[in-house]
Formats: sequence, C-alpha cells, structure tokens
Amino acid sequence: MRRAKITAVGAYLPERRLTNADLEKLVDTSNEWILERTGIRERRIVGRGQGSAYMALRAAEEALQKRGLPAEAVDLVIVATVTPEHPFPATANIVANALGAHRAWGFDVEAACSSFLYALSIAADSISAGRVERALVIGSDKMSSIIDYRDRATCVLFGDAAGAVLLEPTDEEVGVLDYLHRADGSGCAYLHMKAGGSVLPPSVRTVRNRLHYVYQEGRQVFKQAVVQMAAISEELMKKHGLTADDIAFFVPHQANLRIIEAAAQRLGLPREKVMINIDRYGNTTSATLPLCLYDYESQLKKGDNLILATFGGGFTWGALWLRWAY
Ligand code: ACO
Repeated sequence: MRRAKITAVGAYLPERRLTNADLEKLVDTSNEWILERTGIRERRIVGRGQGSAYMALRAAEEALQKRGLPAEAVDLVIVATVTPEHPFPATANIVANALGAHRAWGFDVEAACSSFLYALSIAADSISAGRVERALVIGSDKMSSIIDYRDRATCVLFGDAAGAVLLEPTDEEVGVLDYLHRADGSGCAYLHMKAGGSVLPPSVRTVRNRLHYVYQEGRQVFKQAVVQMAAISEELMKKHGLTADDIAFFVPHQANLRIIEAAAQRLGLPREKVMINIDRYGNTTSATLPLCLYDYESQLKKGDNLILATFGGGFTWGALWLRWAY
C-alpha cells in the first residue's frame, strides 16, 4: 500500500525575542502570571516587511536542503496559515515561485490552529492516491500582525514562526497511517477576528475600533481544547488498538502548557513522552506541530509511533497517527 512519509523537516525562527519582561512594559501583566497560566517564557517576532511567505520559504528551503533535493522535485506546496501574505493569491503560490518549485501546484489551508494538521492530511492523501510524488507542507504564521499588544489576555500567548515537512511516497508501513478531524462552527463566537473579511471589510471605523485583531474568550476555548484534543486522540488510538505504551511521543498543538498537560494526563501519557516547546515560542498557530518535530527530530527513530493532535479556532480539532520513517 502506498503511503506518505515525512523525509525532512525545516523551520524558520525569527531572531527577535519578545520576553515576558518585555510584555510587562507593554501591558498590565507579570512574568509569574504568564508562566503559571500559559508556560510561555518568550516568543519570536519577525521583522517589519517580512510576512508569512518569507518565513515559509526559509523553512521549506531548509527541509529540501536537508533531503538534498532541488525545488523542481516538488509537485505540491500547501501553506497552512491564518496570516497569509495577502488575502489572495495563496501564500503557497508565492512560496513555490520564490523556491523555484515551478512544476508544483499549491494552495493555502486555513483552519486556525488546526491548519497544519488538516494540510498534512490532504497532502498525505494526494501522495497515497498516486497523484503527487513530493509535497511540501508548511505551517507559517506571523501572529504579531493580528495581535493587539494592548490586550493582555491575548498578546502574551502568540509568536511568529514557520515549520515545514517534506512528504514522499513509501511502500513501508511508516508515515501518515490515519487521521480523524472534526469542526464545529458554533465555536466562532469564542475565537475569531471581527473585521478584514467580506462581512466587515477594512475601514477607518474598523481600524479605530481595533477590530483587526484576535478576539478570544479564553476560558471557553481552554475547556473545549482539553476535552476535544484528548477525546479525538483517544478515539484514533482505540480505533487502532494503540495504548499509551505504543506511543513514543504525543505531539500536541502548543497553545497553553496547562492544556497540553491536561490532555496528556487524560491519555495516560507521562511528560517525557510529550513534545513541548511552548516555553520558547508561544503559540505559533500553524507552525507549532512542525516546530515540535523539528526540535525533537534528533530523538526520533524509525518506527516510532507519534500522535499529533490539535485544537483551534472554528472550532477545529483533530489527531493524526504518524510512524516516523527515518
Ligand atoms: N496578565 C495578568 N492577568 C491576566 C492576563 C495577563 N496577561 N490575561 C488575563 N488576565 C486576567 C483576566 O483579566 C482575569 O482577571 P479577572 O478574574 O479579574 O477577570 C484573570 O486573569 C483570569 O482570566 P482567564 O481568562 O480566566 O484566565 P485563564 O486561566 O483562562 O487563562 C488563557 C487565560 C491563557 C487565555 C487561557 O484561557 C487559554 O489558554 N485559553 C485557550 C487558548 C487556546 O487554546 N486557543 C486556541 C488556539 S488559538 C487559535 O486557534 C488562533
């Protein structure tokens, strides 16, 4: 059976660090509050004039370079993002062109924090179906472009970054083995951006009223994130008779350390089996999952079972069973 395996991972982390001490100077908050409630110490902020395409390009270049492949070898480029370079065309088209992937088609996937996992699933299916030989799936978000640095409830959470994976076909039993995804649009009330879309296009009034930023009712999102991320991971594991012992690593979306710990606990997974890097990057939305794979790459070995899980705006959530291929 033809499957899609990950053969390389790349990342781009902007150099500039925004620490909790920096945020103490911007809003009424404290290092203690942020650490205790979120587990975040610092986040990265990309330079002015650099957008999601720039970060995505750098991450994709690293993945291809690690695999030793030219950009012409890529057939499909999917960029997962909630902060595209432009409303249109797709950031994926800009990235493919800059990369020199002139044979590739591509598009963006927007499913808030679940964008990367949805995109990975679509790309894996395209490869399994024999339509595509090599796909780049890139999660890239410049969250600093949609965060209100006067709102202490959201500005402490997010950071900018990109992560990329290269997918190739395999006949071995490795790679993307299965996934389950869900969505519930009633969650829109608790997590959205009010203006800038077709219902409320940008205007002097929307800018004055600060409507171009992330709006979040954190407590509501928190409760759903813990329950749904654990439940869907459990459902996927049960479907395949997998227990906590079979799992080498749980790879959860990095939105809040307390969400990650609660979900892992529900799954009976000890802390050493959970990928965590939220302390250094915050919530980078579409980039958190590939950034985890990037940071833990040296600890992974062929045959390791990973459960990737996500929860985000929409609401959207999902889990994906990945067997590491190298
Ligand atoms: N510093 C100090 N105090 C703060 C801060 C801050 N940065 N932010 C909020 N507070 C205050 C609030 O004003 C509130 O004060 P009050 O009790 O006087 O009203 C108090 O702290 C508690 O606020 P809560 O919102 O209840 O705090 P909570 O413990 O829930 O933590 C948080 C807030 C971190 C946002 C949490 O709810 C969370 O992580 N939610 C989920 C985030 C998430 O998973 N998002 C999904 C992905 S994002 C996406 O899809 C784009």
